[in-house]
Amino acid sequence: MSVDANSAKARVARAGAELVGNGMLVGLGSGTTSALMVEWLGRRVVSEGLAITAVATSEATAQLARELGITVLELDQVGELDISLDGADEIDSRFAMIKGRGGALLREKIVAAASRRRVTLITAEKRVERLGVACPLPVEVSRFGMSHIERRLASLGAVTSLRRSSGNLAITDGGNAIVDCKFPAIADPAVLDQTIQGLPGVLETGLFVGLCDVLIVGYSDRVEVIESDPSARTATG
Ligand code: A5P
Repeated sequence: MSVDANSAKARVARAGAELVGNGMLVGLGSGTTSALMVEWLGRRVVSEGLAITAVATSEATAQLARELGITVLELDQVGELDISLDGADEIDSRFAMIKGRGGALLREKIVAAASRRRVTLITAEKRVERLGVACPLPVEVSRFGMSHIERRLASLGAVTSLRRSSGNLAITDGGNAIVDCKFPAIADPAVLDQTIQGLPGVLETGLFVGLCDVLIVGYSDRVEVIESDPSARTATG
């Protein structure tokens, strides 16, 4: 990936990779920021002899990590992860997030829930007052009955569309479909997450609540590291 090493995204990716210590069990996120972070880990493997074992949130990330000499195992082959690092599409002041524009939300949420310390890597424009104003919420659904499930999601007030890629239905690594749901601003992410999860055929939502312990924000000239205050979160995880 050719990205200016001084760009905000490259800075935040590097800062995230620096949090990983020797011998750690690491969850690797998906998307462009995570890919840069994995590349930094790969450099540390070569330059410092960093030895880590990773679990990947997508096939693409697993392939990249292996190419860089990082050992990648299945989540069920390991216990609790020491740390996981992943990008996000939007994050609010209570560290609730929308994730899944890259389609890896199901595995991302499982890996985040299996990790002791969850690190989110974003560039500054992804911090928002209210989730959902600009970004549709991805919802992973069963392909069986997906149009019916989409209609149930629309009945909750969303403008919905089944995600497509190059003209075809987009299929996740788990073999499922994604419905992108454009809600008006999301007032209560935890409540909406629970409501959507209650619909038959919904496998996961891109609302991540209580799943960010450390936020690293990249700017063109610096990064900011913010520890989450658990008492300020609307925690479910
Ligand atoms: C992947 O499914 C997503 O959750 C990504 O983590 C998120 O979309 C951020 O991606 P970028 O780092 O590419 O912006």
